[in-house]
Amino acid sequence: MKKILAVILSVILSLAGIAAFAEDGDLTITLQIGNPVMTVNGTEQEIDPGRGTVPVLVNDARTLLPVRAVVEEMGGNVEWEDAANTAVLTYKNDVIRLTIDSTTAYLNNAAYTLDVAPALINDRTMLPIRFIAESFKFDVAWDDETQTVTVTKAAEATEPTAEPTAAPVETVEPTAAPTDDERQESKTLVAYFSATNNTEGVAKHIADGLGADIYEITPEVPYTDADLDYNSDCRANLEQNDDSARPAISGTVENIEQYDTIFLGYPIWWGNAPKIIFTFLESYDFSGKTIIPFCTSGSSPIGSTTAMQNVTPGANWLDGQRFSGGASSDTVMDWVNGLDLDL
Ligand SMILES: Cc1cc2nc3c(=O)[nH]c(=O)nc-3n(C[C@H](O)[C@H](O)[C@H](O)COP(=O)(O)O)c2cc1C
Repeated sequence: MKKILAVILSVILSLAGIAAFAEDGDLTITLQIGNPVMTVNGTEQEIDPGRGTVPVLVNDARTLLPVRAVVEEMGGNVEWEDAANTAVLTYKNDVIRLTIDSTTAYLNNAAYTLDVAPALINDRTMLPIRFIAESFKFDVAWDDETQTVTVTKAAEATEPTAEPTAAPVETVEPTAAPTDDERQESKTLVAYFSATNNTEGVAKHIADGLGADIYEITPEVPYTDADLDYNSDCRANLEQNDDSARPAISGTVENIEQYDTIFLGYPIWWGNAPKIIFTFLESYDFSGKTIIPFCTSGSSPIGSTTAMQNVTPGANWLDGQRFSGGASSDTVMDWVNGLDLDL
């Protein structure tokens, strides 16, 4: 009954051209970590109706939650662009675009760097509340003791700040929106290691298909057939069993700064990337760059990239793809094009 009344009330308000709860100074939303219920001007309601999703702290410091109900209470709107994995949030004349697993967010086409990327958690799209609320010129406060975020409508409009008022809520560092020239300069590198040339074939398909630069990660000491005889105590097996193994690489990538997007290819060795990939990842600063892994294998999937992500702080890793050794250009480029990258 309560719900029906609320719906009728909101229809009446919107028919009258008044956004519910969106008048200056009249809105207070309170959200608590781990609590599926928020309060809107003192009235309790579910954050994610029927699903029980709760706000979470990521990296012990940033608050993510499903924001549709919150944004709608603020008087805004949320839409989902499936192909781009992007949520588009609008409030009055402001538009925010947030992409799953990307720390780059856009407010009215200006790029901002988030501390924590939006994420899919248990199939729910979890977005950073502070960035959203501040971008829409609401105030955000954090109470550490009660683990509570309070969003209020500020009487005066304020610009989003780069300074966190209190942890743990999202900090944003505005960066200049890329100019058309900068966009054109954005370059893609296909870097790969291939011991028996299967991964090399896939790497070349990507580089040819995109017109990207290509770089072979070449071991200083090449792998012989005996080194790859995985039924023995061969060099490859010994390296894979040694967490500290970092086989040396011959040569370097020239001007890695020029690349924003790096496709990274390797064969699967015992379910994982070969250790020489870690040598490569630890040789450069990948922060702010997007890394897209791909691999070839006998049959194993690409597996977890967490260990590689751990050695590339600030890099944005996309989901990877496994191919069979002889994958055709069409198969490979279907995957690349499906990524819908802005290259
Ligand atoms: C040491 C070693 C371990 C391997 N482990 C796996 C594995 O766990 N799963 C799998 O499907 N293939 C495995 N393979 C097969 C390779 O992943 C596969 O042949 C790959 O396509 C080789 O790529 P490359 O020619 O680019 O080196 C292994 C090969 C070697 C040499």
